[in-house]
Amino acid sequence: MQITILGGGGFLGRKLAARLAHEGSLGGEAISGLTLFDLHAPPGIEAPFPVRCLGGDVADPAQVATAIPEGTRVVVHLAAVVSAQAEADYELGLRVNLHGTLAVIEACRRLTQGPHASGATPPRVVFTSSVASFGGGQEARLEDDARQLPGNSYGAEKAAAELLLQDASRRGVLDAVSLRLPTVIVRPGRPNKAASSFVSAILREPLLGLQTELPVPEEFAVWICSPRRAIDWFLHAMAMDTTPLGLDRGINPPGRSATVGKMLSALESVAGPEARALVRHAPDPAIEAIVGGWPASFTAERARRLLGFSEQESLEEIIQGFIEDDLTATRAERGI
Ligand SMILES: NC(=O)c1ccc[n+]([C@@H]2O[C@H](COP(=O)([O-])OP(=O)(O)OC[C@H]3O[C@@H](n4cnc5c(N)ncnc54)[C@H](O)[C@@H]3O)[C@@H](O)[C@H]2O)c1
Repeated sequence: MQITILGGGGFLGRKLAARLAHEGSLGGEAISGLTLFDLHAPPGIEAPFPVRCLGGDVADPAQVATAIPEGTRVVVHLAAVVSAQAEADYELGLRVNLHGTLAVIEACRRLTQGPHASGATPPRVVFTSSVASFGGGQEARLEDDARQLPGNSYGAEKAAAELLLQDASRRGVLDAVSLRLPTVIVRPGRPNKAASSFVSAILREPLLGLQTELPVPEEFAVWICSPRRAIDWFLHAMAMDTTPLGLDRGINPPGRSATVGKMLSALESVAGPEARALVRHAPDPAIEAIVGGWPASFTAERARRLLGFSEQESLEEIIQGFIEDDLTATRAERGI
């Protein structure tokens, strides 16, 4: 089975590639090759199958077609410009987040329905949409059929991409599963340009012994998941039977709703009061304006009961998972 990860050099792309290399198979079938595609060719990884590492632009249809060659069975489309950056640079967000997805659809169409198509089975495309594609804010607990009313350009681009992938699935061009990911914590490395970057920073930076700022009040609630669970969800979405989805390819996976105060208490129980003391309150209305519009909770019944997506760990386990998986590498990367 040939697999391509677009955005394969990013946070979740690297973790997914490492997990595939470790397992060697997907859904009981051996993996025969993996392509990792990102703006700069991702570093190679040790794997029991050939790994191709390509640099390129996901908004360039020819480059995406190279990354999704004939025989590709699964495409995981993670390449994106994240929330605050897409809000600050409208053209870049639109190009990567929307036109990038159109290029993925076009590449799959060539394989399945173009004049030179080999009549291949429509490849599974796992797309990472976001909680940011919804509105509703702190008071919301959204049902599975809630309408997507994004209050930011990133969320609008993700929602539009979902709709086009759903239609491409209906047309037999590809077979999409769009996961509306919660905010994934704890993100390793450095703070990034996501408006939600602080949700990871308030846990990661103190664990590195560094001070950090909290731009929202402690009662502020966020819909979160762990990187371990996000990767479990990707593997499930890559191999699941999509028949029960019907036309509706968007899935709200079972994340966890947690206030910032609860996260800080979990930090304290894992790493002591001195870790919590490194978090300083510094209100930032611009950040709160973006993340304040995102819903803090979902029922996620369809993913749980019908589709078999796994549940979250506790906050303490999520922090412990970061310590086990990523703390040493983050220290090394940042020279701490
Ligand atoms: N991490 C989260 O909390 C979270 C939450 C909701 C949704 N998501 C979505 O999940 C996906 C993966 O998230 P992540 O945290 O790994 O993000 P990331 O920023 O670490 O990875 C995205 C990758 O896309 C690449 N990319 C950007 N522009 C590109 C272009 N023009 N051509 C090719 N590659 C390009 C980047 O270089 C980066 O490596 C993204 O689509 C993101 O929007 C993430």
